[in-house]
Formats: sequence, C-alpha cells, structure tokens
Amino acid sequence: MNSNFSASFRCIAGCGETYPLHEIVYTCRKCGSLLEVSHDMDRLREKSAIQWRELFDSRMGTNRWPYGSGVWNKKEWVIPGIDDENITSMLEGNTNLLWAKRFGSMLGMDDLWIKMCGNSHTGSFKDLGMTVLVSMVNEMIHRGANIKAVACASTGDTSAALTAYASYGGIPTIVFLPRNKISTAQLVQPMSNGAIVISLDTDFDGCMRIVQEVTKDNTIYLANSMNSLRIEGQKTISIEMVQQFNWDVPDTIIIPGGNLGNISALGSGFRMMLELGLIKKKPRLILAQAEKANPLYLSYLKGFKSFEPVIPEKTLASAIQIGDPVSVEKAVRALKEFDGIVEQAGEDELADAAALADRTGLFCCPHTGVALAVLIKLLDSGKISKDERTIVISTAHGLKFSEFKIGYHEGTLKDVKSRHMNRPVEMEPDAGKVKKIIDQKLKEQYG
Ligand SMILES: Cc1ncc(COP(=O)(O)O)c(C=O)c1O
Ligand SMILES: [Zn+2]
Repeated sequence: MNSNFSASFRCIAGCGETYPLHEIVYTCRKCGSLLEVSHDMDRLREKSAIQWRELFDSRMGTNRWPYGSGVWNKKEWVIPGIDDENITSMLEGNTNLLWAKRFGSMLGMDDLWIKMCGNSHTGSFKDLGMTVLVSMVNEMIHRGANIKAVACASTGDTSAALTAYASYGGIPTIVFLPRNKISTAQLVQPMSNGAIVISLDTDFDGCMRIVQEVTKDNTIYLANSMNSLRIEGQKTISIEMVQQFNWDVPDTIIIPGGNLGNISALGSGFRMMLELGLIKKKPRLILAQAEKANPLYLSYLKGFKSFEPVIPEKTLASAIQIGDPVSVEKAVRALKEFDGIVEQAGEDELADAAALADRTGLFCCPHTGVALAVLIKLLDSGKISKDERTIVISTAHGLKFSEFKIGYHEGTLKDVKSRHMNRPVEMEPDAGKVKKIIDQKLKEQYG
C-alpha cells in the first residue's frame, strides 16, 4: 500500500546532492555537509491530515507487524520503501508520557509532563533511531551489500542500542567507548550482547575520530547520528507525543543535548507534522546542556552567530559530555525555527533537580536532571510561565546510572551538596528502637 511513497538522502547545505537510502553515504560527497532524509512531500500530501491521523491512531498498540513499534507505525514518514521482512524491531517507542503531578505542583505547575524515553528496550531513546539504522543495514545486506559489521563511537547509550538491535538481527558490532567515562551498566550492555568492545584512552570526540577512520572503506557501516537514518526514527517521538495529547501541541518541550541529534530529530518531527497539516501550532523547543559541556549554550549567547567546539569537562551527565557535536547545524536550524532557548545546568543543580523529582516517584538519569534543572531556572527567570503545558524529555532510565544515584545519597559526588540525600538507617534489630526511629523519620521527612 505504501510502496510508492519515497525518500532519499539530501545534502542539508542545499548544494543539490541527493543519494538513494540504500547507498553507503554519511556526508555530502560534493560539499561535505551532513545529509538528511528527504521525503516526497507531494506524494504524502495526497493523504489528508485527518487520514494520516486516523491511520497512525489505528495502528497504535496493535500487534500487526511492524506497527506494534512506535517508530514503524509511522513507516511512510520514516523509511517508506523498506521491506517489512527486513525491519529489525523490538517494538520500541510508545513510551509513557506521564503527568508529573506532584513534581509539577512543587514548582507551581499543573501541566508538567515527562516523556519517559528511558522505558525502552535498552533504557534510552537511542532505540528509536537504531531500529531504523539496523533495519536499513539488514536490507542492504539482503540486497548483497558487502557490510561485515556495524560500528559506533558512544558515550554509552548509543553502543547499547546499536549492539542490541544488531545482535537481534545477527549483524556483528564494534563499539568504541571512552575509557572510564561511561557507567558500568552502559558498558555491560554491549559486552552482554556480544559486541567487540574497544575502550579507548580518550573522550567521546576522540572515539568519533577513530570510528570515522575505521568505517572509511564502507565494509564496516557507521552508526553514529551523523548517519541521518537514526534521526528519522528519533523524530517519531514528536509525533507520538502530540498523538498522546489527542493531536494537541504542547507549549514547551525541554530536551537534554550532547551530540545534538535528538533536538534536531524533535524539530524534524514537528516540521513534518506542520507541513502535512496535522498540526497548526509550533511548540517552543528548549535545549538543556551540562555547564561542563556547553558549546551550543555559548553559541546561543552570541545569537548563534558563531560556533566553537569546546573541550568538555567531566560531568555527571556523562552521555552528553561532548564538546564537538556533529549535528550542530541541524540543531541550530531547529532552535531558530521553534523559538528556541538554550540553557545550561551545573553539577549541583542537575543532581538536586533529579533527586527532587525522584522524591515524587521518578528515578531520573543525570541528563534528565539537566533538563529538570533548566526547567527550574527558566521558571525562576520567567522565560517559561507556570501555566504552560510543558514536556520534559527523559532520555534514559535512572537504573543505568546507579553510581550517580548512590554517590548522591552517600554525599560523595564532586561539587554536589546532596540537599535531598536519603541514607539507610543502620541499626540493631530492636523493635522499640525501630519504632522510635520511624516516628522521628516520619516527622523529619513528611512533616
Ligand atoms: C541519556 C542521553 N541523554 C541525552 C543524550 C543527548 O542526545 P544527543 O547526543 O542527540 O544530543 C544522549 C546521547 O548522546 C543520551 O545518551
Ligand atoms: Zn552538499
């Protein structure tokens, strides 16, 4: 039914270059810029906005292959031409968009929502992009391409998602990780799924340079987000969130950013819904960066007139410890188009914001902490008003960052005051003494 929808790679600089999606190409061969997936919009316009909404709604939550996936239930907008047999999906997406009722009321907001992208197969939003990339690689291999493995550089979550999806599809995987800069849970994921794990004495940007060298001859396929196939999968969260509000557009969305693929994807999903008339209103997009890895924040302060990479410092938000983001141009375009703001959060701020939200039943990763701290700052400065419908994108599951959580509650994190620390009470098994402690703690903690 959808075989005559089509898409191809297009150079984002507008030099006119295009390539078929089955070609192994990551950047423009003429001018070196990034590529994006460009859809035949006229063909997509042949369906009305109402028809698209109905089609997407009718597939949500079904078991019909591949529509049980929150990515592939929008297949015509993602990779229309792919053969369903080659799709490598673990039914990702469809993550809960929860009302942060108690946390919101602490901040004076009654319309605050958290998109729980970490409630996913490998515990982060990266699954959304990886199902698309690995499916395309699978299709290329079926068509006879000489691809012997897929590879990526990663701050942790990308390598976990790539290895899971590639292993599910039977494709060998090589991951390059900065030594001692990712969490134990993130390291053990690609190890468990059987990747060749290479731990390098460098940072993420250094790993990125190596993977680009290693993948130059095209027999090892590059899976980093400079590969725009991943953005196509990630952009479906924009559509999914609007769908979860019965096609109402939120006022403001806050997202943590490192390599800046995800903010670009968010913009791309909204752009497509606007162009095809599914929505009329634009949300405002807010990018949250860690103060220790803040090149886009610095550029924002200069009105995006120039951009300088930085050498990032060690941050608790380790997955966004990136100083030379590959998708900077796409991100700036999205921020300009959606009335964007870039704000930063320090270590103490991000840790306390995550811990405060945890007190209301959440379990936030440090990157979500960056986004929550930015929310608090922008409310304080009046840049976000308390009555706005606001969504914070939670990018990973807190369980992947247990060292961060334990360190916070033990009070051992550098530059963090741990105002919401909660330690276990170690005591002898004496019922009388236990009751006394409970009374004391109830008073202290619940007033
Ligand atoms: C948990 C988490 N949050 C946020 C990000 C930032 O996403 P992006 O690099 O696309 O800006 C990443 C990945 O880099 C991540 O793993
Ligand atoms: Zn070009």
